[in-house]
Amino acid sequence: MGALWHPFSDMGAVERGGEFVLSRGEGVHVWDTAGTRYLDATAGLWFTNVGHGRRELADAARDQAATLAAYSTFGDVAPEVTLRLAERLAGIAPVPGSKVFLTSGGSDSVDTAAKLARRYWTEAGQPQRRTLIGRQHAYHGMHFAGTSLGGIAPNADGYGDVLVPETAHVAWDDPEDLRATIERIGAENVAAFFCEPVIGAGGVYPPPEDYLTSVRKICTESEVLFVADEVVTGFGRIGGSWFASTRFGLEPDMVTTAKGLTSGYIPMGAVLVAPKVAAPFFEPDAGRWFRHGYTYSGHAVAAAVALANLDLVEAEGLLDEAARLERTLADAFDPLADHERVAQVRSGTGAVAAVQLKDPAAAAPFVKSLREQGVATRAVGAGGLQLSPAFVMTDEQVHELADAFRRVLDS
Ligand SMILES: Cc1ncc(COP(=O)(O)O)c(C=O)c1O
Repeated sequence: MGALWHPFSDMGAVERGGEFVLSRGEGVHVWDTAGTRYLDATAGLWFTNVGHGRRELADAARDQAATLAAYSTFGDVAPEVTLRLAERLAGIAPVPGSKVFLTSGGSDSVDTAAKLARRYWTEAGQPQRRTLIGRQHAYHGMHFAGTSLGGIAPNADGYGDVLVPETAHVAWDDPEDLRATIERIGAENVAAFFCEPVIGAGGVYPPPEDYLTSVRKICTESEVLFVADEVVTGFGRIGGSWFASTRFGLEPDMVTTAKGLTSGYIPMGAVLVAPKVAAPFFEPDAGRWFRHGYTYSGHAVAAAVALANLDLVEAEGLLDEAARLERTLADAFDPLADHERVAQVRSGTGAVAAVQLKDPAAAAPFVKSLREQGVATRAVGAGGLQLSPAFVMTDEQVHELADAFRRVLDS
């Protein structure tokens, strides 16, 4: 067996069952090393929004690497292309005038927002506001902060009882649980609430009607910072606008992002910080540092790829294509809810959906059977099957996916 230790895997099972090794991608298809083609139902790990094999992004990476591949963004230094990306992101951020803190991925973005939430309250004269609240089913990446905030219990097992102290959890679908939890802890002790507008890796749970506006209002009333984790939903995945926060009018205090920023062609993330939270750190003569950042914060090649990716999304009208896919996924997959092996189909908010099997243990074999039908997907949550196609997938291809699902369900 090879040397690669796969993330999120039972390596014993991988050693027994073998690896699924891919060598090439183009549009909505990937090919394995034997030359077999698969329809990519998930856009990799929810990120290849513009599709695979886009020359524009490869060229942007090559050109920037040959010009200035990377330098530093610490202190007063920055590659020129990084500044251009920050301006571009500030221009599309859900809250006008946002500042942009660049990272190497989604877990970095969540860690940055968690630390910044606590620092903000320290600088605002309320250092006791420390508690960070997350939701059941939530996934916020795998750094310590995100692991603590997440709501998928097995992901936090085996590391000790408390990873990051002063974290709390609430129901995924009940604003009143958030209100009661803030009251119990005391609003004066709560720093921030982390919220995926559509829960992704926890199993694809679109928000119940009015849930997002209700929890936003509760945070505003209790002065708890509202952090929208848009690592999956950002950059168009939710359809019609760049961010779910814009679609739902949330005006978040921070937005954590990654994935679709570069369509996954190169690792990069960003935290969009609303003026209120950024202000103490930009005060002239305050001498206040945010002692935080990563070697690759604002990496020049990543910034060039991100800019080229945003250009493509805009030029090809892909925000509207994602809105189209929201409807097509529902049309094609909702009928599977009647199947005897299916518990539920969750769809209807953005270009994401999940088919929930009644038997969670059937999900892994189901993924393998789908591969035999020429479809690549994966299990999410407890027995869910992920659908998050590239925005360039046609309606016909979505129906092809649904037909393959039905064949496996029937078999
Ligand atoms: C909502 C959310 N937040 C954070 C992360 C972590 O991102 P990364 O895996 O890039 O560290 C993910 C990854 O799937 C995610 O879905």
